[in-house]
Parts: sequence; C-alpha cells; structure tokens
Amino acid sequence: MKVGVLTGGGDCPGLNAVIRAVSRRLFARGHGVVGIREGWRGLVDGRFEPLGPREVSGLLPRGGTILGTSRTNPYRVEGGVDAVLEHFRAESLDALVAIGGEDTLGVGARLYAEHEFPVVGVPKTIDNDLSATDYTFGFDTAVSICTEAIDRLHTTAESHNRVMVVEVMGRHTGWIAVMSGIAGGADVILIPEQPVSIEDACKEIRHRHDRGKDFSIVVVSEGYELEGVADGGDVDEFGHVRLSERGIGARLASQIEQQTGFETRVTVLGHVQRGGSPTPRDRVLATRYGLKAADLVHDGSFGRMAALHGDRIVDVSLEEATAELKRVPDDWFEVARAFFG
Ligand code: F6P
Repeated sequence: MKVGVLTGGGDCPGLNAVIRAVSRRLFARGHGVVGIREGWRGLVDGRFEPLGPREVSGLLPRGGTILGTSRTNPYRVEGGVDAVLEHFRAESLDALVAIGGEDTLGVGARLYAEHEFPVVGVPKTIDNDLSATDYTFGFDTAVSICTEAIDRLHTTAESHNRVMVVEVMGRHTGWIAVMSGIAGGADVILIPEQPVSIEDACKEIRHRHDRGKDFSIVVVSEGYELEGVADGGDVDEFGHVRLSERGIGARLASQIEQQTGFETRVTVLGHVQRGGSPTPRDRVLATRYGLKAADLVHDGSFGRMAALHGDRIVDVSLEEATAELKRVPDDWFEVARAFFG
C-alpha cells in the first residue's frame, strides 16, 4: 500500500513521534509512506513529499510537525472535497493516516461516512478534549509546561504578596487548567465546565489571606465564562473563535484586584504551551498510537481511531470520537477544589 500521512489543526508536541512510528511500522510491513503538506490543505492542493527511513529518523524529541499543519476544512473550500478525492487518487494513495483533533478527525469521519474514504485517525490535542480516548498526546507536555510556570510564579507571588493569575489554553474544556492547577498547587482554578463566580473566587482568596497566606495563585482556562466577556472576532474554517482574544486572564485579574484590594498580576502562557519537545509520556503515547494506526491501515480497518482506554491502546470509530467534546467531570474538579482558599 501507499499510505498518506497528514497532521492538522494546532501543532502539538508528539506529532513527529507519531509520524515516525506510523512510518516505521508501515515500512516494516512492506508499505510506502507519503507525507501530505499542511493538513487537509495538502490534499486540497495536492502537495506531497516522500517519507523514507531517513526523513523519519531523529523525530522522537522534535516538537511541531515536519509536515506542517493548517486549519483548512475541505468542506468549507469551494470544490475542496472533490479536490481531496482527486489528489488522493492521482497520487495513487491507498490509505490515509490523519493525525489531529476534533476538527481534523471530524473531516476524516465525514469523508469515511460519505465516500468510504480509507482513513484512520490518531487523537492529537493539548486540550485533551476528544471523547472516546482517555488521553490525547501533547496534553502531558502542555500540563508540564504550565506546572513549571505555576511553580515559577509562586516565588514571585510569595515575594511580592501578590495574586498571580495564570491564563492557560484548553479551548472549551478545562483539562489543562485543572491538571496543572492541581500539580502546581493553585489556590483557585476557573474552568468553563464549573460555574465558580468571581465573587466566590475572591472569597477563597480572602479566606486564604485571613489564615495568614498573603499570596495566591489563580489558574484560569481561556474558555472560562466571565460576565460581560463575549466571544468576538474572526472564526476559523471550523467555526472556532480565537479564545485568547477574549483576554480572560487580564479581565479576571483586574476584577480580583478591585474586589479584594490585593495587588494582582496576570501571565498568559499562550503558545509556549504547545512548543518544544514532548515529555517521555507523550513520546510513548504518540508512539503507541502511531503503531496502532499503522496496524489498522494494514488490516484495512478504516473509519477507526487509535485510542487509550486505561493502559490499553484500542480502536474506536471516528464518528464516536468526534461526536462530542470530553469535558472535565465533577470528580476531577473536586480534587482541585479540595485545595481552594
Ligand atoms: O486546540 C489547541 C489550541 O492551542 C487551543 O488550546 C487554543 O484555543 C487554540 O489551539 C489556539 O489556536 P491558534 O494556534 O490558532 O491561536
């Protein structure tokens, strides 16, 4: 078989480790691999590059994606789907491994349902918001980066008696905020899934000060709903607004300072969270996903996605995986809440 590989959506530590594992397993089984440039855009435009043993060597520690990425949605491009099917056929491809989040894999699921397109998915996102898998690769690295930042901010908070607000990514779920907040010992964590108001957050901070702690760390997810803050601006081809533009961290910091009188500063971690080398855990997860995806292709099991259930790598339907977002359940938030105030 000749198998195409693409990476779509935001870049994410571990993408290259998947490309390496998919390729190595496919080579070992006698198949050829072709890289598709910049996600679905590469199939719309017909941009390919050969991937051989040399191209996939040395990739384990490398962040980003050697194939480039984009948020192109062929269903939103005039003639996009026909172009995908035509370029796929013209390049004599037999199968596709799509590595991406809900958007990239959602396109794969739809192409499979509507055209029996031979696609297999690998779940990628630092947000960890894909259902049907316990964890996506990239998440552990993002959480590690945020935890280190929270540790560093602690020392400044403590020295200056300040409240430090840390804004993290995660889109409409609070996985990064909750996990890094628990790991970093945050005093308040605000996420989209939980209706903790600013008044309640300020109460926790005051309570902390009353018991002699004169600094606090507040972790807020970019998608946290704050009264008076509306989504605005441009949307991408999948209909997503840029949540970072809401400036939730800065608004929250100013309200905390107003309501408590404590000096407050904000740090927005931004794309630092997606940068650099994957953690060992993400390298291993990405590798296991890559092997599974190659095996699914080899077996002709299309319309499936590699997934983690407990400690086992399994496969699930792409349709199921992209049907809904995986939100932070209450019991995870309760672990975080036990340390508020
Ligand atoms: O989905 C990953 C993610 O980093 C989100 O957490 C964030 O909201 C978004 O992508 C940022 O996208 P961009 O890189 O287009 O600014």
